[in-house]
Amino acid sequence: MNTNTNPQTSTALMRDGSGAMFDRIAARYDLLNRLMSLGLDARWRNRLVRCLSDAADKAVAAGQRLEFLDVATGTADVALAIARAYPGAHVIGLDPSREMLAVGKKKVGERGLDEHVELVEGDAQALPFEDGRFAATSISFGIRNVPNRLLGLKEMARVTRRGGLVVVLELNEPERGPLAPLAKLHVHHIVPRLGAWLSGAKEYRYLQTSIAAFPSPETFAGMMEAVGLHVEGMTSLGFGSAHLYVARA
Ligand SMILES: C[S@@+](CC[C@H](N)C(=O)[O-])C[C@H]1O[C@@H](n2cnc3c(N)ncnc32)[C@H](O)[C@@H]1O
Repeated sequence: MNTNTNPQTSTALMRDGSGAMFDRIAARYDLLNRLMSLGLDARWRNRLVRCLSDAADKAVAAGQRLEFLDVATGTADVALAIARAYPGAHVIGLDPSREMLAVGKKKVGERGLDEHVELVEGDAQALPFEDGRFAATSISFGIRNVPNRLLGLKEMARVTRRGGLVVVLELNEPERGPLAPLAKLHVHHIVPRLGAWLSGAKEYRYLQTSIAAFPSPETFAGMMEAVGLHVEGMTSLGFGSAHLYVARA
């Protein structure tokens, strides 16, 4: 039973990390991302995209249709980067936030990629695709927001072709290394303040709390293994404040 009688608090709780929460910040999401990550986010996404080349080569060699799925695609940066890197590929970006997708659709149109990038509304926990459809699936800065992460990973593994790749880019609490305290300071104090100041929304405080609550890289890699994926690589980025996980389906 929900005993929370404060409508403001219960709404906030319901929306934390959800598509509805992202609807409210969609218009400024791209700018905020660039500022908060000091421009590193774009570099990290490109790194994710380069990791997919093995899956792309395999699909082409086997004469299979080259299709990628980007889960929690938001404003479609990864979907667009995949389409640019692998000409001829069909990329589906999925997200529950209509407003994030609307920003993404505009970008797809502006770059003349409508025929290659399709954006659909949906939930990572119930992907509306058949088993083994995609050469590779990706999720960047999104798995943290999925309420049942194991189910989200299981779904990504299910829709990925056997031998294909599941690639996850995600922030985490920076714990190790000489610059970890600096990265921690950035995540805990600068990011939420900058976010709240620039967006006028309290939602960016959620970023800090959700990063702190995210499992350690080793535990998260274990979750990927638990759904039947084989983790082949785990790369620390941004002084340990993010990791890129590459797993074989
Ligand atoms: C921080 S944004 C990341 C967007 C994009 N992938 C990027 O790299 O910028 C997180 C995204 O997760 C989406 N999201 C929230 N809950 C989700 C769910 N259950 N399934 C899929 N995506 C979800 C949000 O709507 C939002 O667009």
